[in-house]
Amino acid sequence: MKKVITYGTYDLLHEGHVNLLRRAKELGDYLIVGVTSDSFDKGRGKLNVRNNVLERVEAVRRTGYADEIVIEDYFGQKIDDIQRYDVDIFAIGSDWEGKFDYLNEYCEVVYLPRTEGISSTMLREQSQDVFRVGVIGSGRIAKRFVPEAKVVNGIEVISVYDPDETSASIFANQFGVQPFSSSFDDFLEKVDAVYIASPHLTHYPYAKTALSVGKHVLCEVPLTLSKAESRELYDYAEAHNLVLLEANKTAFCPSFNHITTLVKSGVIGDVVDVKSSLSKMVSAPTRELDYAQAGGAMNEHASITLLPIIKLLGTDYSSFDFHSKVENGVDVYTKVVVNYPHATSSATLGIGVKTEGNLVISGTKGYIYVPAPWWLTSFFEVRYEDQTKNKKYFYSYDGDGLRYEIQEFVSMIISQRKSSYKLRRRESVAIADIIEKFNNKENYYQL
Ligand code: CTP
Repeated sequence: MKKVITYGTYDLLHEGHVNLLRRAKELGDYLIVGVTSDSFDKGRGKLNVRNNVLERVEAVRRTGYADEIVIEDYFGQKIDDIQRYDVDIFAIGSDWEGKFDYLNEYCEVVYLPRTEGISSTMLREQSQDVFRVGVIGSGRIAKRFVPEAKVVNGIEVISVYDPDETSASIFANQFGVQPFSSSFDDFLEKVDAVYIASPHLTHYPYAKTALSVGKHVLCEVPLTLSKAESRELYDYAEAHNLVLLEANKTAFCPSFNHITTLVKSGVIGDVVDVKSSLSKMVSAPTRELDYAQAGGAMNEHASITLLPIIKLLGTDYSSFDFHSKVENGVDVYTKVVVNYPHATSSATLGIGVKTEGNLVISGTKGYIYVPAPWWLTSFFEVRYEDQTKNKKYFYSYDGDGLRYEIQEFVSMIISQRKSSYKLRRRESVAIADIIEKFNNKENYYQL
């Protein structure tokens, strides 16, 4: 019996896929089709796949050509599969000509003619509206947004708003978008959604105004500095069928999602302690050191540093306290301890004190270690008492990492999903609550 194997994503299954599968089947007696897993696609930068792995497997099955379907989950798997299934022929479309010659060592490699004029990418682009986005704020963070948005389908940055005319026009020239400075209403009128990357204290009024005229909002961290304000914005968005997402970028990055799913599935037992740390030294004059602009380590970094705590231990904390080193009215270092009925946790944040910047999640069976900078997660290790059971995980963290949150934002708008399991509204509100308690100096100790 001649065995043939072929691989693909098979998103929005189309005629090109069907032709390819038919031709591959004709090469032998038994066809194995490898369908990429969702995480494998994400890991290799294919962020826009519409159908999930179950839907894609089902679509391939329905063509009737596959005798067996396997999931492709890692680089190098093709060699393993060819040997494991005793494959005679590896077949793939001619767009890959030459790229799989290395498999000749294990079986015959055949490049089959590709069907012209159709691809999943084309179908994704045709079936999707392009949302026009305006950026609010033109500083450091906003500048990273435009190149990152370019790698996500379905979104186009068309304008920038900044009350500082010079800054808006420099940004507009750099990225080829339209600048607005005098009228926020005119700016809003032309867009479907906004990305807020302005100073902290302006997030709430900008988000509220944008939502009130029916615009979807992606807002930089911290969404607001108050539980009530965050909750009010989420309630308003929900009641008006609008997407409001806090751009807590780590929450959406593939490796961090993998950490949370591993922990939730019990690989380290019950979580008893989460220790996260983040420090980014700054020097005056800068907004981060300015009390009037809500500077300080907590306002600046709590959203990301508290994320793993809230994600893994939940929003039902029982107590917390803050220990801060203060200079000129802002905390240059804060350690926040958050306690739960059966677990404890701490986050250390610095803008004038340097810390290690790693994340350690300790459980009753083992722990997960994520080295600094854990918030740009590209590697982590699950460790046990018996070190032979340790497992290392590697991921790519593409670009500035904003593409993952932008992708989630677009996908929520398209599918009219108001909530993201990657960052639930109650989790975002809980983080605002802790920041607010800090600013109110509840259980606060100065070092
Ligand atoms: N294929 C083909 N003809 C097409 C499109 C795809 O023969 N018009 C083949 C590919 O060469 C590959 C298989 O179908 O062997 C699965 O490809 P996949 O990457 O899933 O499909 P694409 O439509 O190329 O997807 P994308 O646009 O996301 O790259």
